[in-house]
Amino acid sequence: MHQPVLVAEVLAYLAPIDGGIYVDGNLGLGGHSTRILEQCKPSGKVIGFDWDASALALAKERLAPFGERLIAVHRNFALLKETLLELGIKAVDGILLDLGLSSYQLEAGGRGFSFQGSEPLDMRMDQRGAKSAADWVNTATQEELADIFFYYGEERQARRIARFLVEERRREKIVTTDQLVRIVEGAVPRRFRPKKIHVATKVFQALRIAVNGELENLQQILQDGPELIRPGGRFCIVSFHSLEDRLVKRSFLGNPRLHVLTRRPTIPGAEEIEHNPRSRSAKLRVAEVRG
Ligand SMILES: C[S@@+](CC[C@H](N)C(=O)[O-])C[C@H]1O[C@@H](n2cnc3c(N)ncnc32)[C@H](O)[C@@H]1O
Repeated sequence: MHQPVLVAEVLAYLAPIDGGIYVDGNLGLGGHSTRILEQCKPSGKVIGFDWDASALALAKERLAPFGERLIAVHRNFALLKETLLELGIKAVDGILLDLGLSSYQLEAGGRGFSFQGSEPLDMRMDQRGAKSAADWVNTATQEELADIFFYYGEERQARRIARFLVEERRREKIVTTDQLVRIVEGAVPRRFRPKKIHVATKVFQALRIAVNGELENLQQILQDGPELIRPGGRFCIVSFHSLEDRLVKRSFLGNPRLHVLTRRPTIPGAEEIEHNPRSRSAKLRVAEVRG
């Protein structure tokens, strides 16, 4: 399943209280929300977003004991402003984001997030999304693909991989994850391969970010979120790669409405990393809305 990361730290910063309303932008399997709902009893609420229908269904089942204190929303968290308006809520007491994928999405398989095995090259977290990863790799230009791999994956062999990919797709449409892995392996000579990660890791990460518009969504909520939190309330963001962390850091620092509480990001301790290796790249940044 999925183990929530930095739970104690998130709870300490969010400090949920009875009667408060909290937004969990990444409900996932409800790990963080369970703890928030336990702390803000008996009447606090969580508005939980997830755009993955199967994750949301599992979270609803797990959080059923909290009844109507959980408002589960099957939407992109970038639509927070519209959603609060529809719910008639002017301001909330805190917002939590725990970005990216859950282990459930990665491990349940079939969605093309993993480069192990052979799966349809999909990568849409929201199945209603228009373009799958296969659509991207078969239709984007060589330059567009190179830019995606370079900027979203920070992949140094981006241009070479894009060239190989475009040559390959002339011969055969790319529809599975193992086809993509073979292309990356063919493009990157052994001496240029990373030592600690799989050679296709960065290409997969880059495509996932592009397919799901992950940076655009984050930018939208970074812009709208602070306006929707009452003074004294907190905006807590857990991110897993440097592009996201950089966006969060800059946006928090550049927003006059916010006072940054984490000069350096909070990261998991050795014990958490040992129990949950996925947490090793997590970074938590927190800002408080000024009074
Ligand atoms: C790391 S998991 C969250 C895990 C959760 N905190 C827990 O403890 O179970 C990220 C979740 O956010 C969802 N997600 C990612 N981007 C989203 C977005 N823009 N809008 C809504 N949900 C999103 C994913 O589908 C995934 O279920």
